[in-house]
Amino acid sequence: MRVLLAGGAGYIGTHTAVALLDAGHEVVLLDDLSATSAIAAERVQEITGKPAPLVIGDAKDDATVARVFDEYGPFDSIIHLAAHKAVGESTQLPLKYYANNLDSTFALLRVGLERGLKSFVFSSTGTVYSDPADLPFTEESTTSVDLSNPYSKSKRMNEKVLEDVAAVTPDLAVTVLRYFNPVGAHASGLIGEDPAGIPNNLMPFVSRVAIGTLSEVGIFGDDYDTPDGTGLRDYIHVVDLAAGHVVALEQAQPGYAVYNLGTGEPVSVKGVVAAFERAIGRELPVNIKPRRPGDVAATYCDPAKAARELGWKAQLTIDDACRDYWTWQTKNPQGYNV
Ligand code: WQD
Repeated sequence: MRVLLAGGAGYIGTHTAVALLDAGHEVVLLDDLSATSAIAAERVQEITGKPAPLVIGDAKDDATVARVFDEYGPFDSIIHLAAHKAVGESTQLPLKYYANNLDSTFALLRVGLERGLKSFVFSSTGTVYSDPADLPFTEESTTSVDLSNPYSKSKRMNEKVLEDVAAVTPDLAVTVLRYFNPVGAHASGLIGEDPAGIPNNLMPFVSRVAIGTLSEVGIFGDDYDTPDGTGLRDYIHVVDLAAGHVVALEQAQPGYAVYNLGTGEPVSVKGVVAAFERAIGRELPVNIKPRRPGDVAATYCDPAKAARELGWKAQLTIDDACRDYWTWQTKNPQGYNV
């Protein structure tokens, strides 16, 4: 299949592009490079030996999307990964998040449907689940638009838009993939996560401590109601996550379908630090800090539906993720800013 990857030069996008190319599909990457580098797209071609043309442009702009279809189409599917995703930042810049994360979907749908698109895969998030009593979250667990932050709200709003569009577009297959916590990197170390500035997320922060650019890991609270008192999350290796996109795309059927992409096996903050220490063979300096506002004690999924309907199950572990993250980090101490 020929696939347009909106946000395709990003962390999830590049790994998904590699998985698609390795599976024999064709890709075109559309990215505004606001959170990545054109080098990332070159690395996709280096890993796969196949073309991964990059169009530098704004997925919110209909004319840009139309130009991509004119120059590189037709496309069998759009995989929409183009979004701002920092929970904390979204509480400070709600309009930036709602505008970017919703307008991009509107533009991609308008142009795609005009051009006869039959499949739309949407990058969503496990943070749309709103009731901790439902843990482990299944696709039927309670969701809400009234979530703790504009980022998660924008994702749930997108899901509602897509569900309503699918309801009146009989031959369109909409597949919503709710990610939990993506971690790790491609084993080659050529592509990986490259957050700008001080990382918000745990694994990039731990990795920067390991490589020496940050001094210690701050553990945000050790008094949660969890086995070791630190937060529990469902860390999914980005290579497993990418594989989930391939099978979801290949098995898409007309209608609206939602799948959790997670391991179903939560790991604590201290567990992640311990796994990273195993990967690098030494201890890391840590310090217990106050809880981070907005954090929940635990979030993880029941991935049974993706296994049952897509034949997809995470294969890689938190140790694999730490090993692969460290390969990426040591090969690219400055990320893509070579
Ligand atoms: C994980 C755990 C922290 C940093 C993120 C994204 C969200 C979604 C899921 C896409 C928590 C703790 C963290 C640190 C710490 N992604 N922590 N010290 O908050 O689960 O959500 O992934 O949809 O958009 O924000 O991930 O990596 O920030 O935190 O102790 O320096 O690590 O308290 O328990 P989170 P995270």
